[in-house]
Parts: sequence; C-alpha cells; structure tokens
Amino acid sequence: MLPPRIDTERLTLREPRPTDGPVLYREYTTDPEVTRYMVWRPHQAPSETQEYVDVCIRAWKERSRFPYVMTFHGDEHEPIGMLEARPRGHTVDVGYVLARRHWRKGIMPEALTALTALCLAQPEVYRVQATCDVENLASARLLEKCGFVREGRLERHMLHPNIDPEPRACFLYARCR
Ligand SMILES: CC(C)(COP(=O)(O)OP(=O)(O)OC[C@H]1O[C@@H](n2cnc3c(N)ncnc32)[C@H](O)[C@@H]1OP(=O)(O)O)[C@@H](O)C(=O)NCCC(=O)NCCS
Repeated sequence: MLPPRIDTERLTLREPRPTDGPVLYREYTTDPEVTRYMVWRPHQAPSETQEYVDVCIRAWKERSRFPYVMTFHGDEHEPIGMLEARPRGHTVDVGYVLARRHWRKGIMPEALTALTALCLAQPEVYRVQATCDVENLASARLLEKCGFVREGRLERHMLHPNIDPEPRACFLYARCR
C-alpha cells in the first residue's frame, strides 16, 4: 500500500537493503542515547543489526510493515535513521529513530510529515498514531510539530528496558482525517 521509495526536500526514504546493516550499526544501533526510549537494548554486535535489517526486508515482502531507511539525497548507501509504518485496519502506527549527530535539524519532522500525508491519502486509512515515553520530550515535540494531537496518557503501556524494568507510561498521539 505504501511506495518503496519516498523523496522529500532533503531525504530519500527507501526499502532496506542487506548492506544497510553495517552502516546502521555504525550510525546508531549501539548508541545508548539513541536507544534510551526504544523497546530494544543497544546492539552488542553487527550481527544483531543485520538480523534486524533482514527482518525489515522480510516485512516489506510480506507487506506486514513498511520500515523505511532514511538517507540524504545522493547518499543512498549511508542510512542515517529509520521510519516505520505499521498498518492496522484504518489506523497506521508509526515509529522512528535517527542517528544522534543529525538530531535537531528538522530531519525527522520532514520525513514523518511526508509519510503521514501518504498514509492519510490511502482511502482506507483515517488515523496515523504514535506513542512515546512520557519523558521522551524530543519525540513528543516532533509529533506536535507534525500536527499530531496528544489524546491521552496510557499508564503502564510500554516496556522501555533501557530506563526501567517495568512497563512505562506513554503519551498517545494521533493525526486523523
Ligand atoms: C525523536 C527524534 C526522532 C527527533 O528527531 P529530530 O529530527 O531531531 O527532530 P527535531 O529536529 O524536530 O528536533 C526535536 C525537537 O524536540 C526538541 N527537543 C529535543 N530534546 C528535547 C528535550 N530534552 N526537551 C525538550 N525539547 C527537546 C528540540 O528542541 C526540537 O524542537 P524545536 O524544533 O521546537 O526546537 C530523535 O530525537 C531520535 O531519534 N531520538 C531517539 C529515538 C527515539 O526516541 N525515537 C522515538 C521513540 S517514540
């Protein structure tokens, strides 16, 4: 339902390739600042990132999820982050991560705005949603900049193992048409 490639002003979002594994490992999958609020722990070996990339490639084949690798235009072999859409009926869940050296330059807002517009242009999709840890202020700010509305606080919603062994409260954000 979503295209294998999306171009924005500065970025290309594309299907992952096996060769992305080593670059993503170098760029951010081991970085504890990047993974702080993620559901996974920092990777310990390149093979962990490679396995993840392989799972993403399979997801595209099965059309079960749509995980995009993000690169700058003209730099298509150098992924700097990922952005994923997970369709569930009339709702699409989104998730995203960006290498730390590219934070606060409006990169993810540019990518998420484009992906959200494409999702909401699908006839069957009425809602794009995301959750973030209540302490993940950068993620909450990003969502608000992209026109998402905070709909509530979900107690004990998500396990974020890098900061707490118990499930954490999250904010639920959505953008609807
Ligand atoms: C969340 C993330 C994708 C944002 O990407 P980005 O391209 O840097 O987004 P922006 O350029 O909009 O910058 C983040 C915004 O949050 C703000 N921000 C960042 N850290 C903040 C903090 N600790 N407190 C308050 N605001 C903060 C920035 O000032 C900026 O807002 P502004 O443009 O109004 O100044 C990036 O920080 C990231 O990859 N984090 C790690 C992975 C992650 O947490 N993913 C989300 C899981 S739900």
